[in-house]
Amino acid sequence: MEMMVIEGERPLEGVVKISGSKNASLPILASCILLEGKSVLGNVPNLTDVKTLCQILKGLGIVIEYKSENTIEVSVEDESDVIAPYEHVKKMRGSICVLGPLLGRRKRAKVSLPGGCVIGNRAVDLHIKGLRALGAEIKLEDGYIVAEADKLKGATVDLAGSNGPTVLGTGNTIMAAVLAEGRTTILNAAREPEIQDVANFLNKAGAKIQGIGESTITIDGVERLSGVEHDVIPDRIEAGTFMVAGAITRGNITLKNICVDDLTTVVEKLREVGVKIENQSKQECQVSCTGEFKHIDISTLPYPGLPTDMQAQFTALLSLANGNSVVTENVFPDRFMHTFELARMGADIKIENNRSIINGVSSLCGTRVMASDLRASASLILAGLAAKGITEVDRLYHIDRGYERIEEKLSALGARIKRERY
Ligand code: EPU
Repeated sequence: MEMMVIEGERPLEGVVKISGSKNASLPILASCILLEGKSVLGNVPNLTDVKTLCQILKGLGIVIEYKSENTIEVSVEDESDVIAPYEHVKKMRGSICVLGPLLGRRKRAKVSLPGGCVIGNRAVDLHIKGLRALGAEIKLEDGYIVAEADKLKGATVDLAGSNGPTVLGTGNTIMAAVLAEGRTTILNAAREPEIQDVANFLNKAGAKIQGIGESTITIDGVERLSGVEHDVIPDRIEAGTFMVAGAITRGNITLKNICVDDLTTVVEKLREVGVKIENQSKQECQVSCTGEFKHIDISTLPYPGLPTDMQAQFTALLSLANGNSVVTENVFPDRFMHTFELARMGADIKIENNRSIINGVSSLCGTRVMASDLRASASLILAGLAAKGITEVDRLYHIDRGYERIEEKLSALGARIKRERY
């Protein structure tokens, strides 16, 4: 096992280059199932989640060749297999993004059900609704989603769920619809930049998707799609996490290779806390903080709202604010495991339904804490960077799912952080 050992209270300074987006890379890689010929994907982060998906794709007859650490060449060699097995899906629930493209191209798919996880219920009813609307027959059998369709036909489908639109459900429906006959209209589609990136990638490959980034998307089916070159968008959650790192250590850092426009709500909320953020260009910004952190209330929402994937990091920051903050989690209402570990470091946080009430404290103290999921581990590392003494973050495998070389990047900014095996 590995843990991260952090000696806190060191202001971060310097420049950090943000990696490509995990949550765009996954569905873009999966959408290669739909293409004929080679695609070259650049700015793909080197993460265990990407490797898990590559394992699934290899099992599905896709040849994956790394041209460099972040550039992958992808081509389909054999289209006979249609199974995404439990052994991979259990490691990464995002694996469900192969369902739509398998059905769209191979007319059959058997994908393990993702089940629940520490961030809450990972329902699939909207994925199934989208694919059924296109004419697929779907059964749940022995823990698998089994989907079949001789021919998919365009239709109108409303993907509104009780917690808002579904990101990968929208992705799956788009990926199934691009080769379907006729026009598909998705109402209440997810507008996340990652879904926009998949749609832009597919359009480069020959798809006809309109309304990208809007809540109504139309897709006119085409006969075939061909391999293309594409650079994945920057990871807005990694960027947001480094912004909080700059702020929580009262540092002064510059983030490069970001998309400023995708971070509007995160930046607005950090400014309310008292963090100074200056955009140097559309791809670069400077983050600094000197005074106390002001208490604020935040609510997570689907894009363009504040991302649920930034909630845990904001919680770490607000636990050091000058008063009470209320954090409302609207996307995954049970996503609060990190608060119990932050409490072990001295944070004062109460949970009431889908809210956490944070009574800001003047300092946190390092201790051994356990990461429960990817963003929880980021929040514990952030807390450790600010805390007095030594923080040890256990179950490090979570962080490697979504943050490329995080300790190298933080060390280069002056953090005292190292990975230890035990
Ligand atoms: N939902 C349903 N029915 C469905 C699908 C979703 O009720 O069929 C509900 C979920 O239970 C949840 C809400 O809708 O309450 C949103 O879930 P969504 O489907 O949008 O999540 P996802 O597509 O499975 C992606 C990201 C998550 C991120 C969410 C929300 C990937 C691989 N995962 O998940 O990222 O939190 O969107 O933005 O893109 C992470 O990176 O740490 C992470 C968890």
